[in-house]
Amino acid sequence: MAPQFRRIQPLRFFGILAGVAGASVTLGSPDPAKVQGPESCGECHKQEVEAWKLTHHFSTFNDMHRTDDAKAIADKMGIRRVKSESLCLDCHYTSKVTADGPAVIAGVSCESCHGAAHDWINIHNDYGKGFTKATEPADHRTARLAGALKGGMLRPDDIYSVAQNCYQCHIVKDEKLVNVGGHTVGTADFSLLSYSQGEVRHNFLDSGGKVNAVDTPERTRMLYTMGTLLDLEYSLRAVARSTEKATYAVTYAHRVKAIKAQLVKINELAPTSEITDVLAATDKISLKLNNADELDAAADKVRALAKAFGAAHNGSDLAGIDPLLPGPDTYKGTVYQPPAAKG
Ligand code: HEC
Ligand code: HEC
Ligand code: HEC
Ligand code: HEC
Repeated sequence: MAPQFRRIQPLRFFGILAGVAGASVTLGSPDPAKVQGPESCGECHKQEVEAWKLTHHFSTFNDMHRTDDAKAIADKMGIRRVKSESLCLDCHYTSKVTADGPAVIAGVSCESCHGAAHDWINIHNDYGKGFTKATEPADHRTARLAGALKGGMLRPDDIYSVAQNCYQCHIVKDEKLVNVGGHTVGTADFSLLSYSQGEVRHNFLDSGGKVNAVDTPERTRMLYTMGTLLDLEYSLRAVARSTEKATYAVTYAHRVKAIKAQLVKINELAPTSEITDVLAATDKISLKLNNADELDAAADKVRALAKAFGAAHNGSDLAGIDPLLPGPDTYKGTVYQPPAAKG
């Protein structure tokens, strides 16, 4: 990949970084001081990088700021340079502190979803001296995965962690950006299953880079259900940010209702205690303006239950929901396959 570093005026950028740190609870963008950049992953994950280069996540880096829509949004928000404004950076770009200062280095990239890698990149793949994947002792593997987790790695096994980033970006949590800026409310039909299994899919580990593999039925069920729980959590957080009766509040209030109805169906077909508790925790909430305390508290409960759901299930007990799952025709974008796998 041609490293297309774009400098940002350092002073301005540091002001922005301070703002980012202050609001870290809700922001998903990886810490620029710890970002390694997608080229560093490509040393070993060649096909993952090839797949990523064909996604909108990659192309937004070169395209977004040039569009008339971007200029219109920026004008309405009083922003002059889209690529140096934290409001746009958080969701459209990856920033990294380089030897020459801070820079925007890519669109939405590996570490936007897997976590800034400085403290885990050399741990997650280290099987121990003299060992391979096949011979690595079990206790070494346990220590390796724990070390990567401690270093901030968001592993695919923990679906909640790797997928919460999708919702932090795809559900816009800034009312003004929508109502004043004219930005979309986010991705109206976002579904973790459909949106992760098209152009975004990059399952190459088992085949050593030969095939971009399809997930198992069990994992597909987990992606669908976890996506629905995350959608509820983040839609509640969006209603919590609503202060005026306009597009933003109305859209997300409807979305909360629609997702709860979906969870009722899931729980009828494959009952679990976690989803029963989610429905109870969100039963009496009031979807009104300026109700942040109640709605954030409900979202926090949904988060805790979604994590518990992820720890307690692997999808084998969820076969009942198969009729609800959106099929491959809904997978967003084209799945990349390595040249040798084609034909
Ligand atoms: C020096 C080689 C190397 C580099 C560099 C590297 N990886 Fe890996 N990565 C591996 C290997 C080997 C595995 C398989 C580990 C295993 O068997 O548990 C892996 C596994 C992974 C996994 C799956 C982990 C799991 O437990 O399921 C993710 C996600 C990942 N890498 C992301 C990245 C990202 C993002 C970067 C760049 C910031 C990166 N890797 C850089 C070699 C590397
Ligand atoms: C909370 C995350 C978030 C923030 C903040 C955000 N965007 Fe977006 N933006 C998105 C997502 C997600 C999409 C894709 C929308 C869809 O699927 O409908 C998008 C789409 C767009 C698009 C249309 C698609 C394209 O890339 O041409 C433009 C233009 C855009 N954003 C500009 C901006 C500008 C300018 C800012 C800063 C003022 C900004 N965005 C801030 C998440 C965000
Ligand atoms: C850092 C913010 C961010 C994260 C994290 C993120 N996205 Fe996106 N995504 C975007 C933006 C912004 C766009 C729109 C890019 C454009 O069109 O310019 C987008 C576009 C997409 C598209 C293309 C949509 C289309 O209309 O063709 C898919 C598919 C997608 N994202 C899936 C996912 C999935 C699945 C996850 C989580 C595993 C995820 N995204 C995580 C910001 C993000
Ligand atoms: C939009 C978010 C997103 C981006 C960007 C992203 N990943 Fe992933 N990654 C995921 C998700 C979600 C999974 C689990 C997918 C599944 O279960 O189908 C995953 C899985 C993986 C795996 C394990 C796949 C397997 O075969 O088991 C590796 C390795 C990995 N990613 C590396 C990378 C690298 C390297 C990059 C950058 C080139 C990258 N990822 C970019 C979200 C992302």
